[in-house]
Amino acid sequence: MCDLTKSNSNGGNVVNFFLQTDLSLDTRKMKTWALGAVLVCVFLPHIRADDEDMQAGCSTTANDLVFIIDGSSSVGVPDFDQAKRWLINITRGFDVSSRHTQVAVVQYSDTPRLEIPLDKHDSSEDLQEAIAAIHYMGGKTQTGRAIKFATHHVFSPPDRTQATRKRIAVVLTDGRSQDDVVDAAMEAKAQNIVLFAVGVGNEITNSELVSMANNPPSTYVLYTEDYTSIGNIREMMEQKLCEESVCPLIVPDVGSTLRGFDLLTAMRVDKLAKKVQGSLITEAAYQLGARTDITLNTREIFPDGLPPSYVFVSTLRVKSPAHQMKFDLLRVLSEDGARQVAVTLTGADKSVTFTSTSALHKEQSVIFNDRGIKRLFDTNWHQLKLLVKPRRVTCYLDDVPIEEQLLDPGVPIYINGRTQVAKKVNLATTVPILIQKLRLYCDPQQSERETACEIFSVVRQCNWASKWNI
Ligand SMILES: *[C@@H]1O[C@H](CO)[C@@H](O)[C@H](O)[C@H]1NC(C)=O
Repeated sequence: MCDLTKSNSNGGNVVNFFLQTDLSLDTRKMKTWALGAVLVCVFLPHIRADDEDMQAGCSTTANDLVFIIDGSSSVGVPDFDQAKRWLINITRGFDVSSRHTQVAVVQYSDTPRLEIPLDKHDSSEDLQEAIAAIHYMGGKTQTGRAIKFATHHVFSPPDRTQATRKRIAVVLTDGRSQDDVVDAAMEAKAQNIVLFAVGVGNEITNSELVSMANNPPSTYVLYTEDYTSIGNIREMMEQKLCEESVCPLIVPDVGSTLRGFDLLTAMRVDKLAKKVQGSLITEAAYQLGARTDITLNTREIFPDGLPPSYVFVSTLRVKSPAHQMKFDLLRVLSEDGARQVAVTLTGADKSVTFTSTSALHKEQSVIFNDRGIKRLFDTNWHQLKLLVKPRRVTCYLDDVPIEEQLLDPGVPIYINGRTQVAKKVNLATTVPILIQKLRLYCDPQQSERETACEIFSVVRQCNWASKWNI
């Protein structure tokens, strides 16, 4: 709280606000306030950085992000301007600073040109102005050369980079490269640079984008019809960049690509609760008892917060008497115990509530009480799934879509509170339920891939369906 230059701490926001306000304001008041802030900093030395009331999310992760933009003759000035606007829109969401995201831009045609180096700008506004001022080059398309250039001259050398900073490159191109991209891309990946390829229009070669980008293409290759419609893939690009920064691999294995949080292991449910048979003979589950306490510091579970979109999945059995209780299946609390994100089951009216925090309304909740959701409380095994998008949440039970509700985009969560599983609302009491799966996938498309084949009533459909189950 004592770093006055940090814009995501409350203090930083206030200082920025004052600095941006007309100076004819009562400057005496401002000085008094600043002095007060300094005094607080001097006299509260016991506050450790770890206890800081800090929000974490996509905007605050530590990234080196390099955009490699096609400026060849086929693009033309109007489309190049459109690409710049897209870039400005995307970078607007980041907290641009040496501590968080640093953005560089390389324009290329025959040769690459460093338009904006990584450490040039310390605010999102400055960066946006600099992007707007980039002049279009024209010329041939040497994408491989541009990637090589970024690897060697734009990203900071690995030894000077803190291990935690992610190195991400986004290549935006409208055509076939006239040089070899494969070697250049391989070299970049060997330097721990993650490559996204964005193809615009119908001149692009799919295989080239796929060989350039990281695996799988479904995650790292994006397409758009033309520059006019590039705005349509903005949300997806933001989500993917965020996933890359805040979401760990679920199975930290070579070749594994599924990102998210397996809360059953991360929250130690598998260690703290009793192992029992799950929904099928082949499945294991965990029986929570009144004395099981599934509570962890949020910092340990979601150290970099949550992405704007994600899929919450839980396979659970709400037996008697839990089926009549009101409890948070999962809740992410702030330091003072307020629910920032929560999935709540209410036995009395057989409903499910999703709670999140918006900038405007603070705590906001949407309730799913359609007839279809009531089966969740029939004391049998079920799979509850919530597809959370920035402006809407869709609720599924046993793979059947039940209801969709609108809400405002969430704000980054504070990570200095606790995260808990199966707790009575407003109480520390654990509710005795059985849990077989408790996951949060970062890729919203995982909602389509995730089946409910572990549920007996669904399993027969799964035998012939060739859906990819994990
Ligand atoms: C950029 O954002 C503005 C305002 O949200 C929007 O009107 C515009 O279409 C966006 N442009 C691109 C290219 O994404």
